[in-house]
Amino acid sequence: MDKPSLQRDSFGSRFGVIAAAAGSAIGLGNIWKFPYITGVYGGAAFIVVYLICIALIGFPLMLSEFLVGRKSQKNAIGAFKKLAPGTPWYLTGWIGMAAAFVVLSFYGVVAGWCMEYIVKAAANAFAGQSPGQIGGMFGAFISSAAKPVLWQIAFMGLTAWIVVAGIKDGIEKYSKVLMPLLLVLIIILDIRAITLPGAEKGLAFLFKPDWSKITGEAILAALGHAFFSLSLGMGTMITYGSYIHKKENLGETAVQVTLADTFIALLAGVAIFPAVFAFGIEPGAGPSLVFITLPNVFQHMPYGHIFGVLFFILLAVAALTSSISILEVVVAYFVEDLKMSRKKATLIAALIITVIGVFCSLSNGPLAEAKILGLTFMDLLMWLSDNLLLPLGGLFITLFVGWYMKKSSVAEELRSEGVKAGYFEPFIFLTKFVAPILIALVFLKGIGLL
Ligand code: TRP
Repeated sequence: MDKPSLQRDSFGSRFGVIAAAAGSAIGLGNIWKFPYITGVYGGAAFIVVYLICIALIGFPLMLSEFLVGRKSQKNAIGAFKKLAPGTPWYLTGWIGMAAAFVVLSFYGVVAGWCMEYIVKAAANAFAGQSPGQIGGMFGAFISSAAKPVLWQIAFMGLTAWIVVAGIKDGIEKYSKVLMPLLLVLIIILDIRAITLPGAEKGLAFLFKPDWSKITGEAILAALGHAFFSLSLGMGTMITYGSYIHKKENLGETAVQVTLADTFIALLAGVAIFPAVFAFGIEPGAGPSLVFITLPNVFQHMPYGHIFGVLFFILLAVAALTSSISILEVVVAYFVEDLKMSRKKATLIAALIITVIGVFCSLSNGPLAEAKILGLTFMDLLMWLSDNLLLPLGGLFITLFVGWYMKKSSVAEELRSEGVKAGYFEPFIFLTKFVAPILIALVFLKGIGLL
């Protein structure tokens, strides 16, 4: 007999659920990636497209994932096997599993960079350096062979250490303390950034749309990022959904997590762009933006290096609450379906991912010339997850909830234990029509078929 309540760990409180799910969503995607792609695609107009993606696709997909997870009480693959036995729907879970390996491989590398920057900031290494020198320092670090790899291994070790401890005593416990702290720090940095001379230019870049900048490629990037930032398309939220108590209102939770994630991304933009313009740095600098710009900001604030240390600690921590959620996708599957112990599952999953990650890290330096399809290995993995795996996984999840599942069964889960779900009809409409059509269109464009 299947008695999930006896074996399954779960979140202990409502705040714990929000902190863990928002902890998954809020990560390097918000603070490192969102500002840099906003810079690359020209600012405010890109943000508007991104917000539309969040509302029309992000919210229904997050709720769909929560719902599939909680209804099945299973991991990303097991969920489909249970809700649709004898059908190929479980392949959706496999796409997610592949995405988990791909994403965490490069995610661990960037998180490792954050850890190195904690040390650099603590040593006051940016003091008196020009923006150009700080840029050179970053380039030299990520292209070196050993150091970034060691940090990546350390970060993956931390991730595995928390995941081994379980849901309530690992994931939830850390998220509850660290997420509020992150918010406080970003707000402090925002206040510093907007009081810099010349800040208006940065704010205009963020909030005054120039529609001529919107290209097909920008729309694709916005959608890809919506998936990435909200932790969607991989089964992360299926896995976390399976740990959420039946008395919780899943729709409300999805809205709160989506809003928190979007809010933090915007706050990160406000912390960064005024400084970019104030210090005459190129807004389209790409992935290095946060590692070059922010050290410049810290130099110019009282006690700046202390804020620098705290900021990079919290960036690493935000990354940690996200990386845990990715590793948990794999571990939950290994434990439940392959019947491994939690310890063994975590060890094996983390080890494989770390090894792939080492190649990612080396592709920024020693292996930079080994291009695949014209991309370095790390860029290839980022391209694969953004344009292929996450959208495809997301597409199938919306089709599953919108078309395969019975409407009554969806309603029953959303209204479990007398929960009111006033959003039910609009949610069904978005999940059945709007989200899948938009995802399919953008997906076809992404792989060059449209
Ligand atoms: N959302 C996280 C971030 O913004 C990263 C992340 C965690 C993720 N789980 C995921 C991305 C699942 C895609 C899919 O940094």
